Amino acid sequence: MPRPKGHSPFGVVLPMKIALSTAAPTDVDVDLLAVSVRAGQLEKDATLRKIDRLLDGALFRHGKDESFEGERRETLRIPTLGKLRARFVVVVGLGKDEPSPNDARIVAIRAALGARMRRTIAVVPPSDDAASVRNTAEGLLLGAYRYDAYLTGARKPKGRIVSASILVGKDDSERRRALAEGQIVAEAVCLARDLVNAPPNDLTPTALAEAARKACRGTSASCVIWNKKQIAAHKMDLLLAVSRGTAQEPRVVHMTYKPRGAKHCIAFVGKGLTFDSGGLCIKPAKSMIDMKCDMAGAAATIGILMAAARLKIPIEVHGFIGCVENMSGDHAYRPGDIFPSLDGKTVEIINTDAEGRLVLADVLAYAKTVKPDFMVDFATLTGACMVALGPWTAGLFANHDGLFKRFSEAAADVDESFWRLPLSDDLREALKSDVADLKHTGESHGGAITGALFLREFVGDTKWAHCDIAGPAFLERPHGNHPKGGTGFGVATALRFLEGLAKK
Ligand code: BES
Ligand code: MN
Ligand code: ZN
Repeated sequence: MPRPKGHSPFGVVLPMKIALSTAAPTDVDVDLLAVSVRAGQLEKDATLRKIDRLLDGALFRHGKDESFEGERRETLRIPTLGKLRARFVVVVGLGKDEPSPNDARIVAIRAALGARMRRTIAVVPPSDDAASVRNTAEGLLLGAYRYDAYLTGARKPKGRIVSASILVGKDDSERRRALAEGQIVAEAVCLARDLVNAPPNDLTPTALAEAARKACRGTSASCVIWNKKQIAAHKMDLLLAVSRGTAQEPRVVHMTYKPRGAKHCIAFVGKGLTFDSGGLCIKPAKSMIDMKCDMAGAAATIGILMAAARLKIPIEVHGFIGCVENMSGDHAYRPGDIFPSLDGKTVEIINTDAEGRLVLADVLAYAKTVKPDFMVDFATLTGACMVALGPWTAGLFANHDGLFKRFSEAAADVDESFWRLPLSDDLREALKSDVADLKHTGESHGGAITGALFLREFVGDTKWAHCDIAGPAFLERPHGNHPKGGTGFGVATALRFLEGLAKK
């Protein structure tokens, strides 16, 4: 099907006006009013009791009829038929867990999902602090997200939320700042989602690099893009080996955000395979279908840089991405080929479908030259990581315990799931080659680990973490806070990690 005219694969973040309001929930004139409740508390909550009274007892009766328990993410929705100023009320369950600022994100996501075609919405966050305001703003935009860049005619969504109020006790500068921060984070996540969802015929390596440039525009971050000749001049032969089988030119992008007086320097590196066919070691059709998502690490890196600059985090942040397509054209690299890496080590190609680690090896080796305090890469690197952890948890490898700890605390703060996997030295044996310094794949077991061990060869003594996001970057169906398709996974954690460092 020819794509719609004048079409951009990068969705536009449509404006949703989000504001704080100190109005009472029963006074707001909106299409949908969202409130939350902990498990089993429906009839005990003061706000809900008031709403129920105005609805002549219909809310609690409906709750009973629907066997609403208030489990985490469970929703109860009821029309108010003129008895309340809000047209609908939705009650979002928070389960039995300890209250957390992350609850606010859940409520807002459910509220925005439930609002769909309605234009105005008001949310009562479960708690009134600044963190909850931030997460509510974030959740509203994340829940309203939809990739509709290629839909036409009747398939075009007919409505959307244009205005949202966060109902708070106090409308002060701290909460307003939190609201703005939540919007910045969510817009970065949504940008990453758009890039992952964009079709690979339009989101080519060149287009991905241009998206990075566009994301930096209007911020204080700068963006340098190398073309094929410049990449060759910089001796990234492993990256170029992967690129040999495609007509699409590769790109390497270096984004820099360098605020004055920064005390830390962090480098992010992203795998940017705009499509991974597997190359000559071609993937079966079933495994190839979602391989437009193989640039999710790059998409996250772009989102992180854009938001770090917009949030004005007082840390120097670099983002490096290797943008390549892995195809099987007549110049394609083959098993048995040997190429030198930027680092100097030679690599024997075993399986052309293990292309990500080759691209990353050269980009990591280059990223090291900015001498970052910490280097973190995001890559949809191995199917083995999904076998190990399932589709919703990312593998987290680190050669430094302090970095691991900070990073996982940040992940917990934003409700993203990472699990540490070991850099087992035992498996290093598997990367020995008879004819080159290294083979680039190991044996059949421990694939996520051997992938990480291969990357480790190129980071030197830099404190480094590797996030294998093959699972959570792209989902077959919605799960938890994440939509189907591109999720923008990793962006929120990385931003939280940077903010945590800035506080020290
Ligand atoms: N891009 C894939 C990994 C992947 C799989 C990402 C599923 C998202 C969902 C990667 O390039 C790849 O093909 N890895 C191989 C490595 C193997 C050949 C050593 C794999 O996991 O099978
Ligand atoms: Mn592959
Ligand atoms: Zn890949």
